[in-house]
Amino acid sequence: MTSDIENLQQLIQDGISQFALQGLTMIVITVILFSTNVVLALWTVLLVVPLLVAFSIWYHHASEKGYLLARDRIATVLADLSESLYGIRVVTANNRQRRNINNHRHVVGAYRDANAYTGRVNAIYGPSTLMIGILGQAMLLGIGGHMVLTHHLNVAQLIVFFLFLNRFFSPIQLLVQQYTTLQQGRSSIIRLRELVETAPSVDEGPDAITLPTIEGRITFEHVDFGYLPGEPVLHDVNLEIAPGESVAFVGPTGAGKSTMAKLANRFYDPTSGRVLLDGIDIKTVTLRSLRSQLGVVPQEPFLFAGSIRTNLRFGRPDATDEEIELAVEVVGLGELVERLPEGLDTPVHERGQTLSAGERQQLALARAFLARPRVLILDEATSSLDLQSEIVIERALDRLLEGRSAILIAHRLTTAQRADRIVVIDDGGIVEMGTPDELLAAHGAYAVMYDAWLASGGRDATRASS
Ligand SMILES: Nc1ncnc2c1ncn2[C@@H]1O[C@H](COP(=O)(O)OP(=O)(O)OP(=O)(O)O)[C@@H](O)[C@H]1O
Ligand SMILES: [Mg+2]
Repeated sequence: MTSDIENLQQLIQDGISQFALQGLTMIVITVILFSTNVVLALWTVLLVVPLLVAFSIWYHHASEKGYLLARDRIATVLADLSESLYGIRVVTANNRQRRNINNHRHVVGAYRDANAYTGRVNAIYGPSTLMIGILGQAMLLGIGGHMVLTHHLNVAQLIVFFLFLNRFFSPIQLLVQQYTTLQQGRSSIIRLRELVETAPSVDEGPDAITLPTIEGRITFEHVDFGYLPGEPVLHDVNLEIAPGESVAFVGPTGAGKSTMAKLANRFYDPTSGRVLLDGIDIKTVTLRSLRSQLGVVPQEPFLFAGSIRTNLRFGRPDATDEEIELAVEVVGLGELVERLPEGLDTPVHERGQTLSAGERQQLALARAFLARPRVLILDEATSSLDLQSEIVIERALDRLLEGRSAILIAHRLTTAQRADRIVVIDDGGIVEMGTPDELLAAHGAYAVMYDAWLASGGRDATRASS
């Protein structure tokens, strides 16, 4: 987009005005040429214009192809560059510098090739039009000379005609240059339009209603879903979460837990079936009213460049300082904030890089705590925390969950054990469901997972909570 917009800027600043100026000059000169001598002017138009038009049509096709290619490739160059810089630690840790440099040379080379192509097209078109002009003038001089000899024209008229003829050809040259800018601008517009016209994967209908304040009943009704056609991730999922109930999703990696959370937040729509909130299909409500009642702490919490305070206020800009301090205290960040010289106004850099992963999770939780949504979705909200912080967070969770429906996705089964109900997801479906005690007593999939969790050194929540 950056380079496309720069191109457009050039087109709008200089291109269009130049184009209009040169075009007008040509029209005026043509009129003057015709009023000087009709026959000679007709010859000019007959000899030069058809050739120029034919050439320009060829150029139009060839250069559009070239410029589109160049636009695509500069985008790849910039994407590759930013990826390498953003992942610089992973690159160095894996000794991939050479390879990444080589790869970058490759994409830059492809960009150079595309530029060489448009350069060649321009090198053919520019001089050729110049030559058409010169040959045209030579032929017109011959015709005009002949007319002077046969007394159809006098020398003075011939000289006047040629003075104006020169002014007829120079705008053509300039127009050709401007045409290149225009072509570049056109391919930029094409690309930008593709981007802007990309249909969002979820869209609210024209008759979408505002979701009234909900109690928090979440229903999955025969939900099927896949990210890619032909690759189902969830099939026929049926689940009802009562208002105020907290439900933990557990299951192996890649089972579809985060996917269920994304469907509830309507980041995607089910391929078939429905997701309902308080009995209302979430497809029929405005996205704004839906998301203002849902709080999501995603698997990779995202912080923005700014202070801790602005990041916390993210979900509720009108939160007071007291509320912010309370939220910080509840998630166990009080100590950190006190230690920082600037306290809550300490900047966190782009994506929260200056904080540890655990601190980022605590901040994301505090953000959700502040926003006080009706329904909470926590995806692995405690996965990066040490035992101490985990215990603090679990206490915070109890306050956070009070009276709210919640989906807790957890690999740490200690967190799952705190939920009212546990849903085991595997292979894109629900394989087991019940209260923690029921599932442990049933000796099914969850009991096996729980034993493995204990054996691997997990904290026994059945004793911790009692
Ligand atoms: N954006 C996506 N495009 C295509 N496939 C995806 C996308 N996101 C996830 N998947 C696939 O969907 C399946 C379910 O992913 P999901 O993120 O729901 O797993 P999960 O249960 O949350 O796993 P984890 O415990 O590791 O977080 C996986 O097989 C994954 O590869
Ligand atoms: Mg996940």
